[in-house]
Amino acid sequence: MTSTHAFWLAGRQATGEDAFDVTSPWDGRLVGSVSIPTDAQVEEAVAAAYAVEAEFAATPAHVRAAALDHVSKRLVERTEEIAQLISAENGKPIKWARGEVGRAVSVFRFAAEEARRFNGGEAQRLDTDAGGTGRLALTRRFPRGTVLGIAPFNFPLNLCAHKVAPAIAVGTPIILKPAPATPLSGLILGELLAETDLPAGSWSVLPVANDKMPALVQDERLPVISFTGSETVGYAIMDSVPRKHCTLELGGNGAAVVLADWASDEDLDWAATRIATFSNYQAGQSCISVQRVIADASVYDRLVPKIVAAVEAQVTGDPNDAATDVGPLVNEDAAKRVEAWVDEAVKAGASLLTGGKREGASYAPTVLADVPADTTISCEEVFGPVLTVRRVEGEAEAFAAVNDSKYGLQAGVFTHDLQTAFRAHRALEVGGVVVGDVPSYRADQMPYGGVKQSGVGREGVRFAMDDYTYERVMVLTGLAL
Ligand code: SIN
Repeated sequence: MTSTHAFWLAGRQATGEDAFDVTSPWDGRLVGSVSIPTDAQVEEAVAAAYAVEAEFAATPAHVRAAALDHVSKRLVERTEEIAQLISAENGKPIKWARGEVGRAVSVFRFAAEEARRFNGGEAQRLDTDAGGTGRLALTRRFPRGTVLGIAPFNFPLNLCAHKVAPAIAVGTPIILKPAPATPLSGLILGELLAETDLPAGSWSVLPVANDKMPALVQDERLPVISFTGSETVGYAIMDSVPRKHCTLELGGNGAAVVLADWASDEDLDWAATRIATFSNYQAGQSCISVQRVIADASVYDRLVPKIVAAVEAQVTGDPNDAATDVGPLVNEDAAKRVEAWVDEAVKAGASLLTGGKREGASYAPTVLADVPADTTISCEEVFGPVLTVRRVEGEAEAFAAVNDSKYGLQAGVFTHDLQTAFRAHRALEVGGVVVGDVPSYRADQMPYGGVKQSGVGREGVRFAMDDYTYERVMVLTGLAL
């Protein structure tokens, strides 16, 4: 029998009146039952966060850094257990789940390091004009206020870490709402935070039901919203609170461009392997998974068979098996949606080069060619193990094809040429350009986020710290500068 998991209310465990079940997308077994906070408990958490804002902002950097280091260390110690939990609730193959824990370890470590050096203040002399004689501006950053962090299911630990760790680093309280499909990883983070000396109200992990979220989003005591998830929900949130500070990490349909100079057998083997791996990792459920391959005509005919072979070599099956590369999607509905989009593309004239089969919540790694531009799969984020291949003539057409999307999160450009890399960096309308690799590369300390419909704002530890704070200047007068 599985006991009900408590949630974390202002740093302590609590249970509500109702609970919901979390089941494995792979075999439907019960992974855990999770208690749901009542309206009164949600109010208590928000009030506690609001009340502790000034105290938390004044906490010495060493206290916040020590707490962050503690969480990082404990994640290392509990890696295997937490990886098993991620895999069980999300269906992610265990090797990718272990990788996710490793990334969260780094996120908390980076946050500890940044907490120690953040906000030293920037001095600016003002005596550059006569009116400023003897004056100095000192600019420091201060928290905007309590953060409402809303996390998605696809990286149930690490994308919670990206909301929580920067908040602690700058000393601003956070109310974290994990995804309903995968709340257990976020709740484990609560266990580790509870071992620290952080002020009680400074953090809560609340598996609030989705239908209760509009009220929380509207709460004026939560001036910052950091959301990762779908475009529809993200923009609905932002539109409902236009005066709040919102960071939205939304979708993408990541393109990998393979240019004419990336032409040796070794080059193409590497590109094909990386493309196959990163269109299918987490069953394609990453905003930066490879969805579109845009290849120069001079390499296309040699590249595509290599991609198909590499995709077919992906090991599908039980996420618990260490050999598995591709597990199920988050649920059967998600797999059915992917199936419908692929079927629509094939009906419209696309060629199915491999895959195209669904079994329950699992969808076979799939490659499509000659996909009409107006099909859903060409225009939207598939968030499944499917990639499309397209032939282009030259760099300009390739870059235009990348930009021919409502999304703009990351792009990968396979080229050896530095000038081309710089042109790509200038031309591509995305938040990140990865040269010599797929768009799926993300280091957790670098700025991460999109343009166009991929969202607003940036995560990546220090960038989220900037986002959670604002500049406040202090002018000192009568100084001997
Ligand atoms: C995302 O899906 O946006 C997150 C990708 C990552 O952190 O690797």
